[in-house]
Amino acid sequence: MKITAFDAALGALVTGFDAASDHSDDRFTALRTALAEHLVLLLRDQNLPDPALMAFSRGFGELDPPGPNPYGAPFLPEYPDINVISNVVKDGKPIGNLGAGEAVWHADMTYIERPPKTAILFAIEVPEGQGDTWFSNQFAAYEALPDDLRTEIKGKRLVHDGAHNSAGILRRGHVEPNDPTETVGARHPLVRLDEGTGRRALFLGRRPHAYIEGLPLAESEALLNALWAHAAKPEFTWSHQWRTGDVLIWSNLGVLHRRDSFDPTVRRVMHRTQIKGDAAITA
Ligand code: SIN
Repeated sequence: MKITAFDAALGALVTGFDAASDHSDDRFTALRTALAEHLVLLLRDQNLPDPALMAFSRGFGELDPPGPNPYGAPFLPEYPDINVISNVVKDGKPIGNLGAGEAVWHADMTYIERPPKTAILFAIEVPEGQGDTWFSNQFAAYEALPDDLRTEIKGKRLVHDGAHNSAGILRRGHVEPNDPTETVGARHPLVRLDEGTGRRALFLGRRPHAYIEGLPLAESEALLNALWAHAAKPEFTWSHQWRTGDVLIWSNLGVLHRRDSFDPTVRRVMHRTQIKGDAAITA
C-alpha cells in the first residue's frame, strides 16, 4: 500500500489496497494514521457491495447511522447504517438524499453533541466531469486566521442548525425559525482541539442558520461572514472529480465539504457510511 499526498492543502491517494478484502490491523492503522495527516484519502477502482462497504468502514470505528431520513424510512432498509446520496427517482420516490443541486460547505451532523468523526463515500454511478466534491482544511484555516479574528472567537460557541439538511431542506418535525437566534441544535466551540494531534481547527458546521451564542444577531452574522470568507479560501481546498469505483474517506471534524450541482437528467448514486465521534467537541 502506498500513500501519496496531493499537491494541495489536504488529501492523499492510496494505491495498492483492496478495500473489500484487505482488512488487516496493520493496514487500518496505516490508513487511520494517513487520514489524521492528510484529512481526505482517495482510493480508486474499488468494488464495495454494501456488506463490504460496512466491513471496510468498521476499520475506522463504530458505524454511526445517518441523520433522520427525509422520507421517514431508511433508503436501504436492509442496511440502515448506509446512507444513499443520489438524484435518482424510482417509482416517483427519491432513492437517496441531496438531489442534483449544490450542497453548500458543511460538516456532517454537527447539530448533535458527538458528531461523526469520519465519512466514507463510495461512487457507484457518477456523471462524468460533474458533481465534483470539494474539501477545505480547517486546521490550516485556523492556523492562518488573522489575529483579530482569532481573538474575537476565543471561548465562543456556535449553535449548529439541526433543522435543515445540507441541501437546505427543512427536516421532518422541525419548524422554520424566524431568525438564527432561534436556531435549534448542539452548541460547540468555534475552535476545536484535536485530542490526537494537539492541533486546533475551525469548527463551523454550516453557514445557513448558524448563530454565535450570546452575540446580538448582527454581530453574530458579521463574525460568521468573516470566518466563512476565510474558511473556504482556495488555498485551503482541494476538489475531487469522481469516477465509478472511487472511495473518499474524510475527517468530518477536520474539514468542510461541499458538492457542485450537476445535470439532473444524469444518474449519480453514492453509498455512504460514517463513524461515531469519540467525544464531545472541546476547545
Ligand atoms: C455530502 O456528503 O455532502 C455529499 C457529497 C457528494 O455528494 O459528493
